[in-house]
Amino acid sequence: MKGIILAGGSGTRMQPATLSTSKQLLSVYDKPMLYYPLSVLMLAEIRDILIISTPTSLPLIKEFLSDGSHLGLKLSYSVQEEPRGIADAFRIGADHIGDENIALILGDNIFHGAGFPRVLRDALSDLDGCTLFGYPVSDPERYGVAEVDEHGSLLSITEKPDNPSSNNAITGLYFYTPDVVDIARELTASDRGELEVTDINNIYLKEGRAKVIRLGRGYTWIDAGTHDSVLSASQYVQVIEKRQGVRVACLEEISLRMGYIDPNACHRLGKRLEKSDYGKYLMQIAYSLD
Ligand code: DAU
Repeated sequence: MKGIILAGGSGTRMQPATLSTSKQLLSVYDKPMLYYPLSVLMLAEIRDILIISTPTSLPLIKEFLSDGSHLGLKLSYSVQEEPRGIADAFRIGADHIGDENIALILGDNIFHGAGFPRVLRDALSDLDGCTLFGYPVSDPERYGVAEVDEHGSLLSITEKPDNPSSNNAITGLYFYTPDVVDIARELTASDRGELEVTDINNIYLKEGRAKVIRLGRGYTWIDAGTHDSVLSASQYVQVIEKRQGVRVACLEEISLRMGYIDPNACHRLGKRLEKSDYGKYLMQIAYSLD
């Protein structure tokens, strides 16, 4: 199983904050946005991950995360020259995917909830075609939406419908079998000029090979694509971290728990950041994980 994080896009909705940096490197409370989608792939036990971004953002991201070996990961990087659409990730990432299953996550998607690693691992264990994650929202018209019949069966997925027939948004986390590359290569651009991930999902759906796992109450999903949603996400993470004394999407802690790094390595990574609370946390948990 391999992973892709799609972290490109023009970031125009967040200018001027994104004029000199990548949207996915902006802070969500105490860490860069990119930590959150990366933590999801790590919790799904995916270690070989391709990060795709723009020609200007990719060097910044690469300098920051390097080859990922300090976290026990194998990170590689590819440029997306133009924002040609989310499905373009499978064309760019074709060699990376090869004949393995693939998890794609959007670089601005934040997931959190008890038992999420189990949900991810169960979803991967019986993957055939595509597995999507649905989440109830009050503003479904902003997302891909699962259209369901009166019995709740999935009929189709519509990208940003004017009149959504359900409140079930399709989140930016997608699991596919390797044939997604061939499907992506056959796609043509939509009316808005993009290779749509929703078109791929509808192809699997027609073949009877699409599944939607509903993340209900007890889970948080935030598409951090606007200043307001970044602020909401930051407030959410702050409340959890302050109240519980644990960190959300702490990559070093996840690596330690997964056995990818040892306590000494975790402590060393914390020491480099020892002036920050994040660094102090790493040094504190290194030898005392419960
Ligand atoms: O967040 C979930 C939603 O993401 C889904 O419900 C929608 O079905 C899906 O189309 C997508 O909608 P968005 O409106 O959020 O897509 P957006 O164009 O904003 O792109 C999402 C992220 O992917 C964004 O951080 C930039 C990045 N991106 C996007 C495109 C089109 C790229 O890196 N390259 C691209 O070509």
